[in-house]
Amino acid sequence: MVKILFVCLGNICRSPMAEFLMKDLVKSRGIQNDFYIESAATSTEELGNGVYPPVKKLLAARGIDCTGKRARQMTAADYNKFDYIVCMDSSNLRNMNYIAADTQGKYRKLLDFTDNPHDVADPWYTRNFALTESDIERGCEALLEHISLKEI
Ligand code: 4NP
Repeated sequence: MVKILFVCLGNICRSPMAEFLMKDLVKSRGIQNDFYIESAATSTEELGNGVYPPVKKLLAARGIDCTGKRARQMTAADYNKFDYIVCMDSSNLRNMNYIAADTQGKYRKLLDFTDNPHDVADPWYTRNFALTESDIERGCEALLEHISLKEI
């Protein structure tokens, strides 16, 4: 069982998008039982709130239901629970280190698994949800590839 926690600032846009796209990806490969996937925020900004409506809509267009997901904050206990703690940008990484020091090298930025590493832009500010979706989709595929190579 590989446990992945996706992290962003608010846990209403990017990390839930990554959580649900990754769940969909492993399901499409028939390997969903080998994974435990969640997402969390670094901030307390949106705690308890559902997925941001434009993200919910974009997921629904792919047949993915994220009803019931509520923003939660990452905890120090998450550090021990998860194998991969994958964030969206350098600012997330800094904030995660305030929650738990990365003593076991579990922290990564999602697009560092791709051949074009860069921060996933926050659509909360850019309003470009399609760009975020394609970046996160590519990142999830690269992350799965990385895990498959390691686990086999
Ligand atoms: P996210 O986007 O980190 O991708 O979930 C944001 C959501 C809310 C806020 C910032 C970013 N906010 O400041 O409330």
